[in-house]
Amino acid sequence: MNNTIKELLERKSVRVFLEKDIAEDDKQLILQCAVNAPSAGNQQMYRIIDVTNQEIKDKLSVLCDNQSFISQAKMLLVFCGDFRKWYDAFKYTGLNPRSVGVGDLILAIEDSLIAAQNAVSAAWSLGIGSCYIGDILENKEEIKKLLKLPDYVFPSTLVVFGYPTAQQLERLKPKRESLKYLVCENEYKEYDKEMLKEMFMDKQNFKNEEEYLNWLKRFYERKYNSSFAKEMTRSIREYLKEYL
Ligand SMILES: Cc1cc2nc3c(=O)[nH]c(=O)nc-3n(C[C@H](O)[C@H](O)[C@H](O)COP(=O)(O)O)c2cc1C
Repeated sequence: MNNTIKELLERKSVRVFLEKDIAEDDKQLILQCAVNAPSAGNQQMYRIIDVTNQEIKDKLSVLCDNQSFISQAKMLLVFCGDFRKWYDAFKYTGLNPRSVGVGDLILAIEDSLIAAQNAVSAAWSLGIGSCYIGDILENKEEIKKLLKLPDYVFPSTLVVFGYPTAQQLERLKPKRESLKYLVCENEYKEYDKEMLKEMFMDKQNFKNEEEYLNWLKRFYERKYNSSFAKEMTRSIREYLKEYL
């Protein structure tokens, strides 16, 4: 197995960091890997905000569902889908551009997330751990103000980085669903009730159906029905108003 495959298979999220700074050269390498990711038409419809100000880190930590490890990370990168640069270039050259639409937004989000994953993989290869923070999608009004995001700039994700503690390295990587459930040939295959049960029981190592049902109910309340999930939907609906 080559090293790239090994690292992709082994990589896991890191949420507790050593008190060790990331060297500037390593940060630059990670950023170079991010911007060398593919992007639609090589348009690079993203902007990466490198958050170095501790006050902003602390505020992000609170705004992203009070996850305190965010403020302790050694490097915080907000990957924004950025169609604004193209819109402005078109405008400045008198092209009278149409409004930016949801298609442009989705493409920009794709570009930004692909760049983010390159950063994550590059960091891991340097021994630097990371964790995506989906909660950056919440609290649109405060996040826009804090990061001074203009319209047509969408904070697709926050990724926090730092050297993992020994405990984080030892922590077992959460099991994935088997390929047989995740890959289908030629066309989409609907999951039936049995298949879903089998898939989740296998992933979670449940011994009986009762364990599965209890877990699913708890998961439903903790994630799908949570206040943060509802806030995320509200917040994104507000962002979408810029594009609709
Ligand atoms: C889009 C996205 C959002 C995430 N948001 C958070 C988050 O807000 N907080 C957190 O602790 N982990 C977050 N994670 C990390 C996942 O929980 C983690 O990737 C998943 O449990 C699999 O574990 P692993 O990365 O260790 O393999 C997020 C991951 C992704 C891809």
